[in-house]
Amino acid sequence: MKEEKPNYGLYHKNLMIYLSILGILGIIICIFGFFMNNILKFIVIIVGVTIAIIFLWPALGLITVNLTVNNDRYQAYQIIENLRNNEPKLLDVGCGTGRAAISIAKNLKNGGIVCGIDIFNEHIISNNSIHTIQKNAKIENVDNKTEFKYGSALDIPYNNNEFDLVNTSFVLHEFSEKENALNEIKRVLKQNGIFCLTEFNRFSFQSILINGIFSLVFKDKKYWNNVLINNGFKEIEMLNKGPFIRYFAKK
Ligand SMILES: C[S@@+](CC[C@H](N)C(=O)[O-])C[C@H]1O[C@@H](n2cnc3c(N)ncnc32)[C@H](O)[C@@H]1O
Repeated sequence: MKEEKPNYGLYHKNLMIYLSILGILGIIICIFGFFMNNILKFIVIIVGVTIAIIFLWPALGLITVNLTVNNDRYQAYQIIENLRNNEPKLLDVGCGTGRAAISIAKNLKNGGIVCGIDIFNEHIISNNSIHTIQKNAKIENVDNKTEFKYGSALDIPYNNNEFDLVNTSFVLHEFSEKENALNEIKRVLKQNGIFCLTEFNRFSFQSILINGIFSLVFKDKKYWNNVLINNGFKEIEMLNKGPFIRYFAKK
């Protein structure tokens, strides 16, 4: 019988399609330009090249991300290394289809549970749903150490001081109300509990290569460091992984 594979979906599938269409339009404009004369030829080619670079570049970046992404990029062992007690309780906020949460659960060796919440926005990841993540956990054999719920980062459906570690991977940049989400994360963390934050690093060479002009959507190290300090996190430690930045901070 054929083994069933997990389906982690595609990041920003529709955006990837729209950007590709606009990029190709830029190339077509460019080709038209070659058949024109004098100054018009010059202007049309410049416009076409500009459109192609602006849109095709991040489109190719998104295509590359989706073709090359694998769950090892979450380096879940780093997250587990921070846990000192047996049977830890972890929460992945914005778990999506489970790339981070399921990798973390696979690395849990001393018992414990990984919970995950998300509003399951399908514009961000295709097939993003509670059904998909539960099915992925089952296929990856971690359904006995995971628990997933529908829930917003702005109103986390768990009690105060419940978790040893809260993780967010590529989620916080989505919020304009970061302070509210961080207050909620602090509320559900135990005293001295760890917050692990992973985001794209705006000014890294790889992020610019992957995201093109859309790299500007992301923030730099200094920004995230200040967000953590201003929201009362302590003992902040930063790990820089090429296009990604990862912080560990304590409540
Ligand atoms: C870029 S995806 C990252 C998903 C997953 N952490 C990963 O690394 O594959 C961002 C996720 O944040 C979720 N999200 C956006 N706003 C949210 C909110 N207010 N509360 C919880 N999750 C949210 C989206 O539904 C999406 O699944």
